[in-house]
Amino acid sequence: MSMLAGLLLCGSPAAAYESQGKFNLIPQPLSVRESEGSYTFRQFTVAYEPGNEELAEIADLFGQKVIPPTGLPFETTTSPKKANVVFALTADTTLGDEGYRLSVTPQGATISARKPAGVFYGMQTLLQLFPEQIKSQERVDGTAWTVPAIEISDRPRFAWRGMMLDVSRHWFTKEEVKRFIDEMAEYKMNRFHWHLTDDQGWRIQIDALPRLTEVGAWRAPRVGDWWSREPQRPGEATTYGGFYTKADIAEVVEYARRRYVTIMPEVDVPGHSLAALVAYPELACLDAPEAVNVGNKFYGTDENSLCIGGPKTMEYMEKIFAEVAEMFPGEYIHVGGDECFKGFWQKCPKCTKLMKDKGLKDVNELQSWFIHEMEGILKAKGKKLVGWDEIHEGGLSPEATVMSWRGMKGGILAAEQGHHVIMTPDNHCYIDLYQGEPTVEPNTYSMCRLTDAYNWDPVPAGIDSSWIVGGQANLWAESVPTFRHAEYMAWPRGWALAEVFWTDTLRKDWAGFVKRTEHHFRRADRADVNHSRSMYNAIVTTEADSLGALRVSLAAEVPGLDIYYSFDNTIPDLHGLKYTDPVVVPLNASRITVATYRGKEPVGALIRLDVKELKARAVKTERVIGNL
Ligand code: ACM
Ligand code: ZN
Repeated sequence: MSMLAGLLLCGSPAAAYESQGKFNLIPQPLSVRESEGSYTFRQFTVAYEPGNEELAEIADLFGQKVIPPTGLPFETTTSPKKANVVFALTADTTLGDEGYRLSVTPQGATISARKPAGVFYGMQTLLQLFPEQIKSQERVDGTAWTVPAIEISDRPRFAWRGMMLDVSRHWFTKEEVKRFIDEMAEYKMNRFHWHLTDDQGWRIQIDALPRLTEVGAWRAPRVGDWWSREPQRPGEATTYGGFYTKADIAEVVEYARRRYVTIMPEVDVPGHSLAALVAYPELACLDAPEAVNVGNKFYGTDENSLCIGGPKTMEYMEKIFAEVAEMFPGEYIHVGGDECFKGFWQKCPKCTKLMKDKGLKDVNELQSWFIHEMEGILKAKGKKLVGWDEIHEGGLSPEATVMSWRGMKGGILAAEQGHHVIMTPDNHCYIDLYQGEPTVEPNTYSMCRLTDAYNWDPVPAGIDSSWIVGGQANLWAESVPTFRHAEYMAWPRGWALAEVFWTDTLRKDWAGFVKRTEHHFRRADRADVNHSRSMYNAIVTTEADSLGALRVSLAAEVPGLDIYYSFDNTIPDLHGLKYTDPVVVPLNASRITVATYRGKEPVGALIRLDVKELKARAVKTERVIGNL
């Protein structure tokens, strides 16, 4: 426990602890104390220091959130005495740059913080204390706008609390991106990683290289499973796609700034560059592809890596990053570096000559040399480089920050070498993965359940925590064709990760998080924000022994659910077989059907799995003599 947490909790830790779940706050604050009474808003009068532009903006945003559902009068004032919401900046340094204190008494609410960012987070917490109707986009009559009397002291665990959205594999409009940023900021996430370029589309205007968007932002329209799609046909119209103009980017940057979200753009090089190669074939080693990829298989056959030895490559990188650096005020730019296919470099006279000239012994060192050059380009523009953990290959650039995605090992290695790390391990942070039983989910790959997102620590044992700047939820979009589906994948796993990155580990608690999440489902319903309820679905695992018996285990992520099942092709309900222990699949059964209930309420999706599938899932186990 940190010293600060100890101080805040001293007195009656149990009471403070217990009360925390009661108010359904996500992420869980550092300290919550319930007091006597409540306050009911009949109008809003927000006070802040005269002339403080940032506090004025926060007051304005508060108004945008509360006026539509409540329909109550809203005004600002410079006199705290006349106000029922007071924003106050104080010299108190104990809660850092993003911490705040929120006090609600029968007279109103006061948020105090050292910096406006803290006031912003206090405002978000205050909004979560309102009845769920506050999330409605239309006026709700008949609700008392009452918040409980409470004292909260809060600060984040990590400075980097990120979410990534891939806008290349599928296109998301400027308005959708803004909505995503607003939704993440409500949960105190503060970094938006904008994955702007990839093989399936280049999405950011670069004036010096207009074909990047004229050509690279467009592909043939396709639906269907990723990697199984038919490639673009010769002469087919490239009608799917889009890109952000400089004015669009400026608008989104400003929108994010008002929500205390810093945007980190990613231009993914030297791999994942197929769209750029189509636009500018001189960027290829041998033969540039003719069409932007539509989600068909190409890796290793079509070129998608920049020709590092090519005469134009560095000139183009300089131009691209000069404009990107100008568009984004944040200090970090992500240069990708992941999954680069290096096979064409070995066959390319330009790349092999460069390797010889620079004394680079293999293609890994060629990639490392390239990333090092990118670091130089960014540094000259006052920016810092972030790359995926593959930037280790061939040696890490001196000041690079590593985004660890293939588990945490790349991050551990980087921290050991004295580099900053953002933890985004795929098994905990990839919110494009399945979040529950795959047969009742839209098609994707692998698994990252809500428990996987919630139950992990971004600081591995034995690592100096000062190198771990935080973590991030990554939403890749191969299987995310619409914004509604982006929301379905993002929430509630994004809420879980918001708590991982904000909340002191001692205050995390799975059962409490489930309860609070259910409250936030109701808020999301009011706001028409899509989300997944896959946490209620049964988890079906199987085991086969060497004599052929197949045993099925059923479980649920949510505590306290009952699981009912059948092997006779009927639909199980409260009157059916209730699961207690692993069951052997009966002779000639063709299928298991599983339902989850909370008391008398069915809560999960009905899962039907053929015995063939159960067998395929089975992990062979040795039969122990005497067992079974
Ligand atoms: C990645 O998932 N290729 C970073
Ligand atoms: Zn080359």
